[in-house]
Amino acid sequence: MQDILKSNFIKEIGDTAANMYRLGWNERNGGNISYMLTKEEVEPYCDINKTIRKLPLDIAFPELAGKYFLVTGTGKYFKNISIDPEKNLGLIRISDDGTFSHLLWGYSDGGTYTSEIHMHLGAHMQRLKTDPNQRVVIHAHPTNVVSMTHIFPWDEREFTRTLWQMCTECIVIFPEGVAVLPWMVSSNAKIGMASAEKFSDFRILVWALHGCTATGDSLDEAFGLLETVEKGAEIYMNIVGKGERHGIDDEMLKGVVEAFNIKVRDGWL
Ligand code: 13P
Ligand code: ZN
Repeated sequence: MQDILKSNFIKEIGDTAANMYRLGWNERNGGNISYMLTKEEVEPYCDINKTIRKLPLDIAFPELAGKYFLVTGTGKYFKNISIDPEKNLGLIRISDDGTFSHLLWGYSDGGTYTSEIHMHLGAHMQRLKTDPNQRVVIHAHPTNVVSMTHIFPWDEREFTRTLWQMCTECIVIFPEGVAVLPWMVSSNAKIGMASAEKFSDFRILVWALHGCTATGDSLDEAFGLLETVEKGAEIYMNIVGKGERHGIDDEMLKGVVEAFNIKVRDGWL
């Protein structure tokens, strides 16, 4: 058996978590990551037939039966993930009926997966329906996105359009827009399912007064999406209330859309 601590996926998730921590998006245990792996990727590093523990789920995910995920642990600090992966991460396989998970490696202090596991699995489930290459869900607390939800209406179209107006790249990186959920109590199956619904046709979701979650085919892609939304929100927070603003108007945005041959959400431009 090869040493899992030397695998690419453990290094990648540790590096991503460290970058997020340094950007100030993941204070204390704030945020969580799930990374779907294939059986072929997992097999060289651990005995897939040996269940260390069974971890419960509050709702069943039969669509994800047999799928493998590397998931950050609940209460674990992002700054520590690359320092002690075995304590801060868990490698799981969803049971054949989708009602629980087999822990195959990790959570070595007796811990369990993130309290947002239902949102993560719900997001994977929905994104896989439209993107067969979907692999990553990243949840974070980016300061400017959360700040913006304090002063801006929780309206997806207006929130998205304002971000698009902040810098040229925004409409290029998220032409389908940003989903927004009103404030809810988090860390439960209810917010998980409300989020999953949004992920049926969005790759990124803002939770008002809480944070933001991005999905994608790779850690880089999901991270890049979060970075771009946070950049738009940072510019907005820098300029709001400081006099008249230019903004990239609809005519200018249409020029970008044409130049980059982008498909924008219908009726949002
Ligand atoms: P966990 O520590 O359970 O991952 O929760 C952190 C968080 O961001 C909750 O929304
Ligand atoms: Zn959170």
